[in-house]
Amino acid sequence: MNFKIPRGTQDILPESSALWQYVEQKAHDLCRRYNYKEIRTPMFEQTELFQRGVGDTTDIVQKEMYTFEDRGGRSLTLRPEGTASTVRSYVENKMFGWAGQPVKLYYIGPMFRYERPQSGRMRQFVQFGVEAMGSDDPAIDAEVIALAMSFYQELGLKGLKLVINSLGDKESRNNHRNALIEHFKPRISEFCGDCQQRLEKNPLRILDCKKDRDHELMNSAPSILEYLNDESKAYFENVQTYLSSMNIPFEVDPGLVRGLDYYNNTAFEIMIDGEGFGAITTLTGGGRYNGLVEEIGGPETPGIGFALSLERLLMALETQGIALPVESSIDAYLITMGDEAKRKAPGLLHKLRSEGIVVDTDYMGKKMKAQFKAADRQNASFTLILGDEELAQQTIVLKDLNTGEQENLSLDKAILKITESKRGEE
Ligand code: HAM
Repeated sequence: MNFKIPRGTQDILPESSALWQYVEQKAHDLCRRYNYKEIRTPMFEQTELFQRGVGDTTDIVQKEMYTFEDRGGRSLTLRPEGTASTVRSYVENKMFGWAGQPVKLYYIGPMFRYERPQSGRMRQFVQFGVEAMGSDDPAIDAEVIALAMSFYQELGLKGLKLVINSLGDKESRNNHRNALIEHFKPRISEFCGDCQQRLEKNPLRILDCKKDRDHELMNSAPSILEYLNDESKAYFENVQTYLSSMNIPFEVDPGLVRGLDYYNNTAFEIMIDGEGFGAITTLTGGGRYNGLVEEIGGPETPGIGFALSLERLLMALETQGIALPVESSIDAYLITMGDEAKRKAPGLLHKLRSEGIVVDTDYMGKKMKAQFKAADRQNASFTLILGDEELAQQTIVLKDLNTGEQENLSLDKAILKITESKRGEE
């Protein structure tokens, strides 16, 4: 039997895991600067959490969840996104009572959706997301958007496009909803089965339908922006003013509705000019979800956040030929000559590593020449050579592979030299 990796998943092999670590570290560093703290929630939750949180009428809940029954007969689901879990934890841990509001959280971790796999669309993918809960200040909307934009910009991505919209507050949404029903109802039979179901439950989702995208009623559908009440309008204007004050360019697209049910007021996506990028051009999605904490059983609490997948980010970086400064070289490679030297090697390596030196040696019984080759292949800065002579003198030969210079010195001096050279590179 030949085992194969499940469809829509990938192995991240050492060459790319260095890139993963780099972008993950970038996310941690950036969140530290913005003062968002990491939260780690379980990979699975009660199924009902997502039905309620993400919304019954969404594609995610209707078609894409990995749901299973555990041995105790409970229905559990691999998390398809991070917001519902974060809000569940916020409520369960009574974070609404914490001193220091809003509570600003972030997460990096795998999410699972049973989607048709294609370039940039996986069944298991890693999201970096942030959620700020407890504040209804439009400045925090701008902060969250700025954090996402900075993440891409600091990694060197170009051609980013920030698209924003307002879905309005409850009142505005209701008025818009009624207008949408009135607009689509007379000709709903011309739409797909999904849209027919959406008409009464959640007509906004019709605007996001891929099958009926070209129907003439789509273009003429009433725009949410015409239905914003004064408060929602002012809120949206404030968000835009803050973004402008940060010199973050954006476009307003009243057609941006997002695929999850929990949004109101601000909704946004970050897209990228998609050459070589297949059909997927959205890198990030997010928005405000003021009713969600209540829906999950907490007190009325505003919230806003975004999520982006690291897979799409890495694809975008590759497409644009952006090489991340990842380290694959080592400081030193220990070459041993003779049995006695080989016996001393583990103790020596242990000492070097405890001094912070990145060092490796041969475990394949290679001859000396092959050990030198291995040092080259590993991109070592130095070789440390230990033979009978050095053992007798209690020294070691240190060879700088960049200059070819070689000297015989005490181990302590060798450590000092390697450490100094490392510092010089930093
Ligand atoms: P979402 O739009 O479903 O929103 O996903 C956000 C991002 O996750 C997408 O823009 C994309 O980068 C990535 N993504 C989604 N599905 C896949 C997939 N199958 N393969 C690869 N990447 C994917 C959410 O998940 C919300 N929880 C975002 C949010 C947080 N809103 C407020 N707070």
